[in-house]
Amino acid sequence: MIHKSINVLREQIFAPNRSPFELEQSAKIESLRERLTRQPHVFEMQDFGAGAPNDTRTWEQMKRGVRVQRDIRDLVLNSCRNVESGLWLMRIVGYLRPNFCVELGTCVGLSAAFIGSALDVNGSGVLHTIEADPTLKGMAETNVGAIGVHSVLFHLGTFEAVLPSVLANSLVEFGFVDGHHTGRAMIRNTELILSRAAGTALVVLDDIMYSTSTEDAWRTLCKIPEVKGSFVMGALGVLAFGAWAD
Ligand SMILES: C[S@@+](CC[C@H](N)C(=O)[O-])C[C@H]1O[C@@H](n2cnc3c(N)ncnc32)[C@H](O)[C@@H]1O
Repeated sequence: MIHKSINVLREQIFAPNRSPFELEQSAKIESLRERLTRQPHVFEMQDFGAGAPNDTRTWEQMKRGVRVQRDIRDLVLNSCRNVESGLWLMRIVGYLRPNFCVELGTCVGLSAAFIGSALDVNGSGVLHTIEADPTLKGMAETNVGAIGVHSVLFHLGTFEAVLPSVLANSLVEFGFVDGHHTGRAMIRNTELILSRAAGTALVVLDDIMYSTSTEDAWRTLCKIPEVKGSFVMGALGVLAFGAWAD
C-alpha cells in the first residue's frame, strides 16, 4: 500500500501561491458568496444544531430541532467556510484523490462547491452532503449547479437519520464535519464516519474551539488509536486515519 504523507499534505495545504484552477474556481465561488449576501432572505427553519456557543439546548431539544428564523445573508457571513478554508479543503481533496466523501452540514453549499470543484478536476469521486433543512438543501443544489460543479450529491435529513444509510455501502476517504457543534455530536458523528473509513482517510472538523465541550471532544478524537496524526488549521482540526506516513 502506498502511504500518504501528513507532512507532504501540510506543505501542499499551506503552499503560498494559488494555481490557475484554484484562482478561477475560488473567484466563481466568491462571486456566488457575494451575490448571496446582497439578497436578504429571511426564512423559518428547524435548527438541529447547537445554536450559539452560550446556548443551553438540551440533547432532546436538538434531536427534535428548534424553530428559528434565519437570514441567508447572516448564514453566509457567519456560518459558511471562508475562501481560505475552502482552498484548504480543495487542496486536501486534490492530494487525497478520494472516491467517497461525506460532508455534515451543507447550508447553502459553499464548502460543497470547494470540495466538489476539487473532485471535478480529479476526474473521480463524489461528495455526499447532508442538510436537515429543505430550504437550504434546495438553495445549495441551485448554487452548486450554477457554478458548474458536478461531483456533489445532496441528502435531506438529520445526520442521525441519514448518515448511517449514506455510509452503508461505501468506505469513506474524506469527511468534513461542519454542523451540530457540541462535543457529544462531534464524537458520535466522527466515530461513525471512522467506523466506515477506508485504509487511508482524513476527517476535517470545523469549529473545534467552539466551546469547552468541542475542545474536549477534539482532544478525545486525537487519542483514538487508529488516528495516525492530527493538526489544526485555523478553526479546523484534521484527523489522519489509517495508513499515513509522517
Ligand atoms: C456551519 S453550517 C455548514 C456550512 C457549510 N459547510 C459551508 O461551509 O458552506 C451547518 C449546517 O448544518 C446543518 N445542521 C446542523 N445540525 C444538523 C443536524 N443535526 N442534522 C442535519 N443538519 C444539521 C445546519 O442546518 C446548517 O445548515
